[in-house]
Amino acid sequence: MVSTEQALAIVQQVRDSHAAGFDLRLLAMQALDELPDYNWSGIYRLEGDTLVLDAYVGAETDHTRIPVGRGVCGTAVSQNKNQVIQDVRELDNYLACSVSTRSEIVVLIRRGEEILGQIDIDGHRVGAFDDTDETLLQELAEILAMRW
Ligand code: SME
Repeated sequence: MVSTEQALAIVQQVRDSHAAGFDLRLLAMQALDELPDYNWSGIYRLEGDTLVLDAYVGAETDHTRIPVGRGVCGTAVSQNKNQVIQDVRELDNYLACSVSTRSEIVVLIRRGEEILGQIDIDGHRVGAFDDTDETLLQELAEILAMRW
C-alpha cells in the first residue's frame, strides 16, 4: 500500500531525472527502497527465455538468472501477467531470496507487446502490496521502457 503522494513523488523523481538505461533503473529502485514495505527492490531483464538480475537495492541474491516459468518472476513472464502475492509461504513455485520475505509483487516492463523485463519487490509483511503498488510500479515500468 502506497499513498498517492508517495507514488507521485517517486514517479516525478524518476521522470525528471536525466538518467537512462541501467542508471535510471537503479535510481528508480533506490527511490522505491525508501518505502517502508519495499525490503528488496530489483529489476530483471528478459534475455531469451531467462530473466537476468539487473539494478537492485537490497541483500544479495542467489537468483541472478531465473528461467521463464520458475518462481513468481518466471511465472509473470510465462503468464504475461503481473503477480501480487499476499503470502509467499502458500506458493509451491517460489524462489526464496530471503527467509524474511512474506509478500512479493512483480510488474512487467513492456514495450508494446514485447516484454523487456520486470520490477520485482519483496516485503517482510504479509499482504504488503495491493493495486496502489501495482499502479505505481506500472507507471515506473512505462518510464523505464521508454528509456531502456
Ligand atoms: N522470489 C522470486 C525470486 C527473486 S527474489 O525475490 C529477489 C521468485 O519466486 O521468482
